[in-house]
Amino acid sequence: MDYQKVRDRFVQFFEAKGHRIVPSSSLIPQDDASVLLTTAGMQQFKPCFAGVDSPYGDLAISIQKCFRLSDIDSVGDDTHLTFFEMFGNFAFRGEVSKEQAILWAWEFLASPNWMAIGRDRITASYYNGNRAGTKADGEAKTALSKVDGLSRVTAQPDTENFWGPTGSEGPCGPTVEFYVDGVEVWNVVFNEFYCQPDGTLSPAVGGLGIDTGMGLERLLLTVTPEAESIYDTDAFAPIIAMIKAHTPGEEAGVTKSIRIVADHLRGSVFLLSDHVQPSNKEQGYVLRRLLRRAILHLDKLNALAGFEEIIGAIIGRYGDFYPELLSQKDMIIQLANLERDKFLKTITQGRKELDKVISESENSITGERAFDLFATYGLPLDFIKEEAAQHHLKVDENSFERAFQSHQEISRAGVESKFGGHGLSSGAQVSEADQQVITRLHTATHLLHAALIKFLGNEVKQAGSDLNTERARFDFTFSRALTDDEKRQVEDWVNEQIQKDLPVKKEAKPLQEALGEGALAFFKQKYPNVVDVYTIYDPATDEVISKELCGGPHVSRTSEIDKFHITKEQSSSAGVRRIRAVIN
Ligand code: ALA
Repeated sequence: MDYQKVRDRFVQFFEAKGHRIVPSSSLIPQDDASVLLTTAGMQQFKPCFAGVDSPYGDLAISIQKCFRLSDIDSVGDDTHLTFFEMFGNFAFRGEVSKEQAILWAWEFLASPNWMAIGRDRITASYYNGNRAGTKADGEAKTALSKVDGLSRVTAQPDTENFWGPTGSEGPCGPTVEFYVDGVEVWNVVFNEFYCQPDGTLSPAVGGLGIDTGMGLERLLLTVTPEAESIYDTDAFAPIIAMIKAHTPGEEAGVTKSIRIVADHLRGSVFLLSDHVQPSNKEQGYVLRRLLRRAILHLDKLNALAGFEEIIGAIIGRYGDFYPELLSQKDMIIQLANLERDKFLKTITQGRKELDKVISESENSITGERAFDLFATYGLPLDFIKEEAAQHHLKVDENSFERAFQSHQEISRAGVESKFGGHGLSSGAQVSEADQQVITRLHTATHLLHAALIKFLGNEVKQAGSDLNTERARFDFTFSRALTDDEKRQVEDWVNEQIQKDLPVKKEAKPLQEALGEGALAFFKQKYPNVVDVYTIYDPATDEVISKELCGGPHVSRTSEIDKFHITKEQSSSAGVRRIRAVIN
């Protein structure tokens, strides 16, 4: 069976069961500021699972463009990808039972009329309980036991069989997973719960939701007998052929590099078509990483000359299914070429530095030095390791990992970066006037943060922050309630800084330098290598009032905030206090 046919069959199957096909949404989630990239088909339906009327009817299916950076290190094996397409069928409020969802999945996989996968190749698992006190899924177990011909069923804990939420909150629940030849192909999620930002689970408002996800490429692999890996299927065939056409050698390691190039450039093309541009933050940084790693592997293959033609092959392969690739072909190629040229310039320098590091190292290269090469020149760790190995050197990966963690650019919360650790709860579509209010509240939050540390001491650490047009909400670690005096002190001090009409200065600098200068950072947030630092200072005394790593935006002078008022101070969770505040 081929790519086109597998897609058609999926749609036909679920249309016959009363589902409506909904087009894939963008890789950039539209109304969910807490998610950087679309990782699942359910992303665009999150509100429908949370009680909002579905504009698509109660039963929907999609073939969703998805991106999972978490799998990047496995790319090159037979079954993992960063960008992939996900089949999903959805029911939003109790229309479909667990048993029905399981039987549909089984029918689609095993029936001779549909995927006709041999029954002896298919196994399944269900949830055996333990997340936040939730029970084993007896209903799923019973339903699976009724499936005629399923060869093996196992019970697994929440690390395997509990899914969601995406981002900071949302629908989630126990799952049934189907495997073919031991590889997971279909995740059937029963959205029984809504997970709050603090991790507590409440019952789903509309009743049981069904959310399923099946990797298209993996399914295609299972129905392509001659294929050993997803790259051997016809989804990839013209892309792989083009890379090979430009690759002279057949040495060991070539296969892995070819696969990495195929995956990374395919992901890059789709990101570019969804208007992501290479940059040093958020989605742009993901794209930059993909392109640069692909370029290094192309270079290794001696296939760099094929860069543009490979991108053309990707657009050619998918253009019929994703017209945005065809309509933006010139732009995609132009931006990719630009990034390639930029990178090739710096890489020459990076290689020189790496050679120097190698000549200065005995036995191993320290993680910090390796990270420095990575952060400054974009040399990926794999590449550094391979080069080092040729000189019988190891790279200290643990210390690299530590250095990386503190710099890591990928935040689960996209807008947390935009608002620098201050989440935005009113959704992405805010008017300009609303944006202005939020910006004023945002700067006020920095002053509040500074005031709390000033009056309560270093025990105070930001534990969360959320802004909307009505109020700021700021969570911080502190072991007891604030006294009325303390609240007044904090409020008065913030208002004093506002009245002084202090300037707010923005500077970009390396993360370590910013932290070294004592800039406040949010420990839950991952920051890029180069960060923006916002400083509020008093030019009369040169005193720094507040200094925070932050993506902005902020007002340019504190007087724009107007009057600041704390409306509530309460416990948020053990050891964490929550302040709500408003401005005039
Ligand atoms: N949302 C589920 C997943 O992505 C189906 O695996």
